[in-house]
Amino acid sequence: MAKTSLPIVLILSGPNLNLLGQRQPEIYGTATLDDHMNRAEQTAAKLGFEVESLVAQSAGELVTAIHNARSRCAAIIINPGALTHFAWSLSDALATFSGPIIEVHLSNPATRESWRHESVIAPVASGSIAGFGAHGYTLALNAVATLLADKK
Ligand code: DQA
Repeated sequence: MAKTSLPIVLILSGPNLNLLGQRQPEIYGTATLDDHMNRAEQTAAKLGFEVESLVAQSAGELVTAIHNARSRCAAIIINPGALTHFAWSLSDALATFSGPIIEVHLSNPATRESWRHESVIAPVASGSIAGFGAHGYTLALNAVATLLADKK
């Protein structure tokens, strides 16, 4: 049950993102996932949203979270980690969600190895934010606010 009646934005993080801060800081920065989520909660509060966040190491857990978000959450922000590049089950699950979906990457996969250039999430997302590091989640929440305001 939601703690408040504010619209809920679900922020999903895929494999290895629990290691942010320790994992390749030269690529992903020194902020931990908790740092990113705390900052996201502050931004969400200013925008009038409630944030729920989940980190999962497998596509199946993320698929279940997306099913549970249908008709309960206003929007989904997702950094699927490496699942971005091949997890069609995640893509299919997101396609069943009717609200805004923002794909976030801390790094810019387009400037990295070629296997990171394809995203199977991008075709079902409202838009993608990549390469802005610690600003990614703040930018994504502002994108959600803009898209939800457009719908009113
Ligand atoms: C990432 C980019 C992916 O290619 C990679 O597998 C990650 C993190 C990012 O945030 O830049 O785990 O999604």
